[in-house]
Amino acid sequence: MASSLSQTVLFSVLVLLSLHQVCAKKAHLHFYFHEILSGPDATVMTVVKAPNTDSFTFGAIAVIDDMLREGQDENSTLIGRAQGLVGAVGMDGSLETMLNFVFTEGKYNSSTLAIYGRLVQGEPVERPVIGGTGMFRMARGYSIAKPVLTSATKLVYEFDVYIWYKEMKET
Ligand SMILES: *[C@@H]1O[C@H](CO)[C@@H](O)[C@H](O)[C@H]1NC(C)=O
Ligand SMILES: *[C@@H]1O[C@H](CO)[C@@H](O)[C@H](O)[C@H]1NC(C)=O
Repeated sequence: MASSLSQTVLFSVLVLLSLHQVCAKKAHLHFYFHEILSGPDATVMTVVKAPNTDSFTFGAIAVIDDMLREGQDENSTLIGRAQGLVGAVGMDGSLETMLNFVFTEGKYNSSTLAIYGRLVQGEPVERPVIGGTGMFRMARGYSIAKPVLTSATKLVYEFDVYIWYKEMKET
């Protein structure tokens, strides 16, 4: 009995694994993340300041609603937004980011990706993609972001996102 149960479980796992192989799709997305640091068009807002300082250090929390654009140019086509929370959680200056990338163009319009992970400002960073919605249901993967512009007023990161996902419909 126990052995037939474990065989059934094993069989189900194998079926699920092979379904996964059949249904998984792969995508490489390439775009630029634009953040405006200050002024009336600022896309980042500090909601909790670090004690005794204006710099974004341990204890500070911000919300962002940044622009995802096709290119590095500030006027290149907007393809989505990066919305979420950024917390200065590291004594070493590292940040924790909890972001939803909400796409607004083309076949990925209205689909989202959930990106979560550690960031060190000014350095290339790899973060996990932990899920998605719409076209990107069940998404798993990783993102690589490289800073390509850092000024007093703007930050631009180049993004490469590699994901595996399933186009699923409710049955
Ligand atoms: C982007 O467009 C704005 C408004 O048209 C313009 O003022 C600005 O110079 C443009 N930026 C670049 C880099 O072309
Ligand atoms: C994206 O989807 C929204 C909601 O369905 C729609 O209003 C909008 O026109 C679409 N945008 C593009 C560029 O297709």
